[in-house]
Amino acid sequence: MNKVILVSGTNRGIGNEITKQLLKEGHTVIAGMRNTAYSKKAFEGINDRLFPVKLDVTNSEDIRVLSVFIQDKFNKLDVLINNAGVMNHISTIEETKAEAFRVFDTNFFGLWELSNTMLPLLRNADEGRIVNISSGLGARNDMVGGYASYRLSKYALNGLTLQMHNELVHSNIKVNSMCPGWVQTDMGGDNAPRSIQQGAETAVWLATESKIESGKFFRDKTEIPW
Ligand SMILES: NC(=O)c1ccc[n+]([C@@H]2O[C@H](COP(=O)([O-])OP(=O)(O)OC[C@H]3O[C@@H](n4cnc5c(N)ncnc54)[C@H](OP(=O)(O)O)[C@@H]3O)[C@@H](O)[C@H]2O)c1
Repeated sequence: MNKVILVSGTNRGIGNEITKQLLKEGHTVIAGMRNTAYSKKAFEGINDRLFPVKLDVTNSEDIRVLSVFIQDKFNKLDVLINNAGVMNHISTIEETKAEAFRVFDTNFFGLWELSNTMLPLLRNADEGRIVNISSGLGARNDMVGGYASYRLSKYALNGLTLQMHNELVHSNIKVNSMCPGWVQTDMGGDNAPRSIQQGAETAVWLATESKIESGKFFRDKTEIPW
């Protein structure tokens, strides 16, 4: 079945690869990017199932305009993939300055607002899905070793996944978190052991597999501990 899927942060990195894999599988992708001028470079060729849209997840007006666009064009959203994310310098809690916690603007508050705004459209789908791109760095059993503010933002995102799952448990909407592993992107750097294709696979699976669970944390299509 051809699904209508919104992905944030698609001009580069894992979000770009997720979009390419979804298009290859025949889905319609609304590709959010902070600057749509990037889209020509990000996606080669023309694809009538690709809709590049302006989306800064920290910008409420972008989110509102996008929801109207999806409503008018499709009247539903099958899947929201919350991929946009930022990381900052390595630091312990003791070294962390308040400014570093601005990662929450994107990694938590932006994803929360986008998810909330898209709920009516996800309700219009046969089975709505939210896929939150989290990180093993935000797992409860790994809350040490620097990147304190980033870890805590992903920990909070995992909490959002569980809260939304529990609130929506009797609805048609499934909500999951996934970790792509350490991936060769601008964020992950050149030393990362995983290719960008590997990093995208589990998100694509959670978006498109015919039967999936809800309220879980996955890596490599396998459940992992919170
Ligand atoms: N790479 C890894 O090893 C790794 C590991 C675990 C989890 N993750 C997670 O995977 C996701 C993708 O990471 P990546 O490695 O692909 O990172 P990346 O290469 O740095 O790409 C990040 C993407 O997010 C976009 N973005 C950042 N802030 C945004 C905002 N406010 N609104 C909309 N888009 C925004 C960026 O857009 P611009 O180009 O405009 O900046 C870019 O498209 C993130 O959530 C990250 O935390 C990555």
